[in-house]
Amino acid sequence: MRMIVAGNWKMNKDRDEATALIAALKELTLPQGVEVIVAPAFPFLAIAVDQLAGSSILVAAQDCHEKSHGAYTGAVSVPMLRSIGVKACIVGHSERRQYFGETDKVVGLKIGALLEHGLIPIYCCGESQEERVSGKHFEVVTNQVKVALGALSSEQLSRVVIAYEPVWAIGTGLTATSAQAQEMHAHIRGLLSAHGADLASRVPILYGGSCKPDNAAELFANRDVNGGLIGGASLDAAQFGELIRLAGRA
Ligand code: 13P
Repeated sequence: MRMIVAGNWKMNKDRDEATALIAALKELTLPQGVEVIVAPAFPFLAIAVDQLAGSSILVAAQDCHEKSHGAYTGAVSVPMLRSIGVKACIVGHSERRQYFGETDKVVGLKIGALLEHGLIPIYCCGESQEERVSGKHFEVVTNQVKVALGALSSEQLSRVVIAYEPVWAIGTGLTATSAQAQEMHAHIRGLLSAHGADLASRVPILYGGSCKPDNAAELFANRDVNGGLIGGASLDAAQFGELIRLAGRA
């Protein structure tokens, strides 16, 4: 199974900062078997794609609209992203759910649009602190995965990347323990096995939530953890480079 290290820059970096970070990432030697993805903000996607020409690093968007065009002020469609060379898109991030009211139903439509146009959906799921404390985490994630991915064919599912991001671990410095991550990743893979064990074993499941160079080796060593979706540590080339190196050793 390939490892994936994806950087979600969120609403950070202006043009000069984005260009400088991409230039630094371009200098990295990528280990065999590790796929690297960066997700800058919308205004810098085309710049990132151009700057990364000749590199194997892929550019992802942080969101998309489910419709292909029309009167949706402020929205960006999948065909638009495709037309500038964006290859992937994060959908269902907990910040989109919390601040923009995104639901799994809408996320499912976005995933459909991405697959239709040949982009890789990076589907985020994960429970809140309250849901974890009350023991509902498996139920919550099961429901998220079923609603957002339940209608996909096996062929479609084989083109999806999943990111398990416990909300309580995002930007808080609290990380799921290696055992908590493995347990949930195995659970998600179990949900996918309705499509057959072979396909389920091939869908990458990334961990996200305060993943840093000092805890990544342990997280990445888990059988069902196929890399990371990185927030804060992706904003620094040295830290992101170290995470890529650690993924190469997992
Ligand atoms: P942090 O790595 O900053 O906790 O963010 C994780 C995340 O939300 C990635 O999408």
